[in-house]
Parts: sequence; structure tokens; C-alpha cells
Amino acid sequence: MNVETNTNLTSGFIPQTKIVKGFSKLTKLEKIDFVANNFFSNSGHAKKELLKFWHSDENIQKTFDDFSENTLGNYYFPFGVVPNVKINDEIFCVPMVIEESSVVAASCRSANFWLTRGGFKTEILGLRKVGQVHFMWNGETSKLAAFFEQKKAELLENVKPLTFNMEKRGGGILDVKLIDRTKDEPGYYQLHAEFDTRDAMGANFINSILEAFGKQWAELVQTNTEFNESEKNIQIVMCILSNYTPECRVKSYVECSIEELNDPSLEMSAEEFSQKFQRAIRISKVDVTRATTHNKGIFNGIDAVVLATGNDFRAVEACGHAYAARDGQYRGLSDVEIKDGKFKFWLEIPLAIGTVGGLTGLHPMSKLSLDMLGNPEASKLMEVIATIGLAQNFAAVRSLVTSGIQKGHMKMHLMNILNHLEANDNERKLAKEHFKNEVISFNGVREFIASLRNYA
Ligand code: MEV
Repeated sequence: MNVETNTNLTSGFIPQTKIVKGFSKLTKLEKIDFVANNFFSNSGHAKKELLKFWHSDENIQKTFDDFSENTLGNYYFPFGVVPNVKINDEIFCVPMVIEESSVVAASCRSANFWLTRGGFKTEILGLRKVGQVHFMWNGETSKLAAFFEQKKAELLENVKPLTFNMEKRGGGILDVKLIDRTKDEPGYYQLHAEFDTRDAMGANFINSILEAFGKQWAELVQTNTEFNESEKNIQIVMCILSNYTPECRVKSYVECSIEELNDPSLEMSAEEFSQKFQRAIRISKVDVTRATTHNKGIFNGIDAVVLATGNDFRAVEACGHAYAARDGQYRGLSDVEIKDGKFKFWLEIPLAIGTVGGLTGLHPMSKLSLDMLGNPEASKLMEVIATIGLAQNFAAVRSLVTSGIQKGHMKMHLMNILNHLEANDNERKLAKEHFKNEVISFNGVREFIASLRNYA
């Protein structure tokens, strides 16, 4: 569809109220008309803007529309790359989708810094995912436990049609256990299942199995002739995977001698830098106000790669933050050790992601991202994602303990300010030159551009 002609499209749908019934059944243009006419100060402008971002290829647009519901258009984010990322002696060019200026630049700085110092190394610490059937039952736990052991094989046998394909790929159900949670909540138990979902994130696979377990488990308990009437009374509360996957975890690390950290841009000795760096990490371990920001920086890197590869960044974030609070206090996720003249910096993080299924193979850009990464297995993608998290954290902490964060940040932000002021090419060039050694602020840039325009 031609984008220009899109702006003339009209649905003929003129809604009279802000409340609508059956909105999802309207055509896309009718939806746009309804929203534009009722919720915008300038409906013509709103409609034009929405249509402007429709893809010119109708099939591609349809793919995007079908990802979600009530779609009116597309919301663009920049797709950038970090070249020179050396992981286990292999060089990657890593795609990142992020709107925050300076994040990609920071990862690039880190990648280049570590490229000449041995690169990043990684280790997979587990690939186990989990989910639970949460249920209520009243009776003697030992009686339920014995019944579960008796029926476990039957439960597993019953879901064979669901696990068949995954087993062919080498994955499947690793175990299912009965967990007694009655100390925390009277009558509360779980069937806790563990899975290997190979290269898939596996949410649908896990949830389908859990729902089948829940249904059959309820039937087995209700029809067990050994149970009295009260014991036959079971309530399945819910069946759902857990996004908390500490056993699906990866470690990325860098290591070099203190001497090798020397770099003119530090503006201090490598010894002083490493000490300050270590203090910053310690602060992130003991102070929640700093830990949150510290981890936000790590997720700047992680989310951007997760998003670029069509993975679920909400799941990854939720899990990462829960893991950061695993001992009861929320702490920074990265660690540093300075020992025998060596500096070692690492990040251990749970990452439940996939390289097949979900959006990974549907979104044209995530397909491209995975191709750029060599169509990796899920475990390799975990290594890449954790590495960018570590790289991002190294760059942030390094800036914080040396020049401060604003120098780099505002340099990148200058572009946003210039865009906002609709600066032309010459104004941009002059502004970049002028603000090389000046403090950048919105007002400062506005005044500078105004002075150029007055002069012209
Ligand atoms: C900004 O998006 C992220 C940082 O604040 C992270 C940090 O402070 O470590 C720079």
C-alpha cells in the first residue's frame, strides 16, 4: 500500500461517543477514526501521523498488525549494532533495539576496550525452566505425597502427545514434584515441574503441559477411592510457568591484569580506577537506591538485545530483578574481584530466552538479528545477551567513577535536542563543534541555535 495515498483513506465511521462496544471488530481504519475523532486535539493530524508509519508493503504491515490486537499503526525504535564483541574468541556484531541515546555507544566502547584485553568469556550454568500447578487440598500431607508418587508416571504418560516433538529435539519434562507450601498458606500445595525447552523460550509448551497436569491431577484426586470425601475436595487455583528461572542462568566475565586496565581516558592510574570500580560494585551490593540504578544500566544492554531478537524483555526483567533480591535484599547483579594483581568482573544472570518459536521467526527484524548472530542456539544467545549486559555495566560504572556519566550522555543527547529544535545540517555541525568542550543543556543549545538563526 502506498503510504502517501494512505493519508486520504477514510472509513466513513463517525463515532459520537468516547465509549465504544465491539471496538476489536471494527476495521483498522474505523478504529483509527474512532480514536482520532475522540481522543486527539487534532484528529486530522493524528490520523495522518498514524498512517505515515504504516509499512508500505501490505503483507509486512499485516504481519505487524497480527502480533497484537487493536493495532492502529507501528511505533518505531532505532535498530543499532555493536561490532567487535569478542565472546569466547568468536567475534559478534550484536543488534540492539533501544531509544536511549548513549547505550549503544557505551556498549561499543566496552566491546572495543575488552577486544584488546582477551575479550569476554562465558559459561552456561543451567538451562532448566519451571512451572507450577498451584492447588488447595486439605488432609494429611503424607497421604497426598504417597498418592502423588503412585500417580506420577501416569501424569507424565498422559502428556506424552504434548512432549513428543520436544523430546525429539532432546528436551521435555525433567521432573515433576509435589511441594508442600502449607506452612506459608494453609492447604496450599504445588505440582512443581521442571523443563528443558531446548532453543524455545517454551512458554506455550510449559503452560500446555501444566494445564494438562492440573486437569488430570484434579480428576485423579477426586476419583481416588482411598480418599474420604473431604480429601477428594481439591481446588486447582492456577497452572502457569514461572518467570523466575535461576536454574536457567549464564555467566559472562572479563579478566585482565590491573596494568592492562591502563588507558589515557581514565585520567587516573589503573590501580586507582580498579579500586574505585570495586567500591562502586560494593555500594551496589549494600544500597538499594544504587543497586536499582546499577541494574537498570545492566538491563539497558540486556533488554536491547532481547528486544532485537524478538524475545520477551518483561520476562527477562522480572526474573533478573527477583534474582537480584534472592537473599532477601535487592543487590547489584554484577561482581568484581581484585586479587593477585588481576581484575575480574562478571555478571551471572538468569535468562529464559529462545531462538525458535514466538516472535523470533515471525518478526522480520528479529529474524535478521538472529541471522546477524549466526542463528545461534538459545544457550549461545544467552551468552551474547549477558555479555552486552556486562559490557553496558562496565561502561556505565567506568564513566561514573572517572569522568561522570553526563559528559557522554549529553553528547549523545545533543542530537535529540537538535532534532527537537529542527536544526539544519549546518546548525548541527556548528553546535557539535561549539559543545565539544561546553556543558550541554537544553537551554544552552536553544540559545546557541537562536543566536545562529538571528545572525543569519
Ligand atoms: C542510565 O540509563 C543508566 C546508568 O544510570 C546506569 C548506572 O548508573 O550504572 C548510567
